[in-house]
Amino acid sequence: MKIVVIGGSGLIGSKLVNNLAAHGHDAVAASPSTGVDAVTGEGLAEALEGAQVVVDVANAPDWEDTAVMQFFQTSSRNLLAAEQAAGVGHHVVLSIVNTDRLPDIGFFRAKAAQEELVKGHGVPYTILRATQFFEFVGAIADSATEGDKVRLPCALFQPVAAGDVAAVLAEIATGTPLGGTVELAGPEALPMAEFARLLLAGKGDAGEVIADPQARYFGALLDDGSLTPGDDPRMGEIRFAEWLDRATTNA
Ligand SMILES: NC(=O)c1ccc[n+]([C@@H]2O[C@H](COP(=O)([O-])OP(=O)(O)OC[C@H]3O[C@@H](n4cnc5c(N)ncnc54)[C@H](OP(=O)(O)O)[C@@H]3O)[C@@H](O)[C@H]2O)c1
Repeated sequence: MKIVVIGGSGLIGSKLVNNLAAHGHDAVAASPSTGVDAVTGEGLAEALEGAQVVVDVANAPDWEDTAVMQFFQTSSRNLLAAEQAAGVGHHVVLSIVNTDRLPDIGFFRAKAAQEELVKGHGVPYTILRATQFFEFVGAIADSATEGDKVRLPCALFQPVAAGDVAAVLAEIATGTPLGGTVELAGPEALPMAEFARLLLAGKGDAGEVIADPQARYFGALLDDGSLTPGDDPRMGEIRFAEWLDRATTNA
């Protein structure tokens, strides 16, 4: 099956392309670095020729509120129109757990708008909403660092390994369109600050992590349900300690 992965050179996209190719699919990585731009439309029609499935795991280069909204709206409109023209039978998009419940975060608003475009367009679709990736915990800690102190919320956080996200996306992409949303979270829920503390300790970083109920996550106040999934999520298999061990051994 020909499956085009928009954002196929990124963290999730590259793992997904490898996973699909290993299962015998014609997996095509499409992104600006391969001459395919979902925002300008360049190269889209050619890349989608003969494709049965498109998986959108592109990410915006600029996370400023207006820029990120424009990126996800424009790229989704262009992709869906090109898919309709090419007769693509399944659009899969990677979104974020509770993206419609944290409107204080511009990035979440943009992903919620992307989901609405996908639901309203007419191309058969499946939305995978994942929690934050293990690989993103370092950037979260960096965004909350002042001097040698990292101040983060104590709300529950249930991140997932990028490898688990790619595995579930591969399963969805090769299955029937659900016309709905699937949630995916990691196997452990702990306070957000605790994940940062484990990461810093694993990397031998002496920075101090402070768990502060008033600390904001990219501008939003969190409670235990803000970033955790609903009742029946898919569960990633890789535990944070196992991932950290591998990440620090290979560093
Ligand atoms: N970070 C998290 O914790 C998290 C959690 C849940 C969901 N998500 C979602 O997961 C998705 C994938 O994230 P990621 O971390 O794998 O992203 P990433 O590593 O930053 O990769 C971004 C990809 O998007 C491509 N891209 C950029 N501009 C493009 C354009 N105009 N047209 C087509 N492709 C373009 C890049 O291509 P080039 O390399 O060619 O520039 C690259 O392949 C995102 O939609 C994100 O919102 C993230």
